[in-house]
Amino acid sequence: MIGGKKKCIGLIFGGHSNEHEVSISSAKTVFQAFNAQINKERFTVKAFYINKYGYWLDSDISEKILIGEIENYKTKKQETFNQEKINFLDGIEFQNVDVWFPLLHGFNGEDGSIHGLLKFTKKPLVGCGILGSALGMDKILMKSIFSNLKLPQVNYLVFQNEDFNNEEIKNKLINEILNKLNFPVFVKPSNSGSSLGISKVKNESEILQALEKARGIDQRILVEEGLEVREIECGIIGKSKLSTSEIGEVKYESDWYDYDSKYYSNNQITIPAEIDSKITKEIKEIAIQSCRALNIFGFARVDFFLEKSSNKIFLNEINTIPGFTKNSMFPMLWKASGLKIEQLVAKLVDISLDL
Ligand SMILES: Nc1ncnc2c1ncn2[C@@H]1O[C@H](COP(=O)(O)OP(=O)(O)O)[C@@H](O)[C@H]1O
Ligand SMILES: [Mg+2]
Repeated sequence: MIGGKKKCIGLIFGGHSNEHEVSISSAKTVFQAFNAQINKERFTVKAFYINKYGYWLDSDISEKILIGEIENYKTKKQETFNQEKINFLDGIEFQNVDVWFPLLHGFNGEDGSIHGLLKFTKKPLVGCGILGSALGMDKILMKSIFSNLKLPQVNYLVFQNEDFNNEEIKNKLINEILNKLNFPVFVKPSNSGSSLGISKVKNESEILQALEKARGIDQRILVEEGLEVREIECGIIGKSKLSTSEIGEVKYESDWYDYDSKYYSNNQITIPAEIDSKITKEIKEIAIQSCRALNIFGFARVDFFLEKSSNKIFLNEINTIPGFTKNSMFPMLWKASGLKIEQLVAKLVDISLDL
């Protein structure tokens, strides 16, 4: 690079999360984008793979995973069990890193934990901070902040795991669901992602099983009224000023957007979404408002429902480390907005450096 040193990007991926595999795919795409011709002069990448048990592996192995030289990296026994000593700050060579790019979806990453750890390195990172990440991951807190701002959301109820240990309280709560919400309802763990732990419940007989499933993932549970919806997504990037991408619609063949339909089927993505320009404008405004409310910046994908019968908008959730695979909505939204993936990753680094 003329007149300056190349920036070293510390790309962190994998992770102790149920979205481990998705993270590897995202990181492969981002790695390629940084190594593209237009970025080669500006950036180098140092890869950091965290295995499923939370153990950090060295950059050589990590890079081999990204270029596909190692498929299905199997964790060696000592790596799995030698956990008394966290090997991050003293064992991993991160001194050369100029900017972190954590691409850890879900737990132990997207929830703010990686952001907290990286703060101690005093290096900037792509994405938002601890607070925005934690709020973006927690559906219950996210929703209560959105309610304070009167942003449009579906009706919902909140439960604690322990409420279900007492038979009497449990029955009372199930009655509350029956009285306050219409079927179908969606039962969700407050913290999760990629639809894991979520069930669509069509009638009373299915509630308990759905609650059990969600309880397996989180202490706190959200029950939402299910609507017949179109799924609309909007990208944001920026720091002091947030910009929105075009908005997109995803259509799938299954009944709802569950894990398999997210990752194993040919979904149809339409960008820009075929919706009224007034609604598009409103969605973009709510996308920015909702990110500001949660202190989310850097990059994020804000997801909406558009009720089929009424054309009403409902804010669903914000993903602070959205999927970055080749088929992911986030890079596609920005491509349609004039930023190819190579330009997008460079822009995200510039944003994190306030350039
Ligand atoms: N209230 C709802 N009405 C209709 N569909 C819903 C509702 N809540 C969730 N869904 C379906 O479940 C999917 C996953 O829910 P979401 O809350 O976005 O969880 P995740 O964070 O795992 O993506 C949505 O994309 C949608 O298909
Ligand atoms: Mg979602």
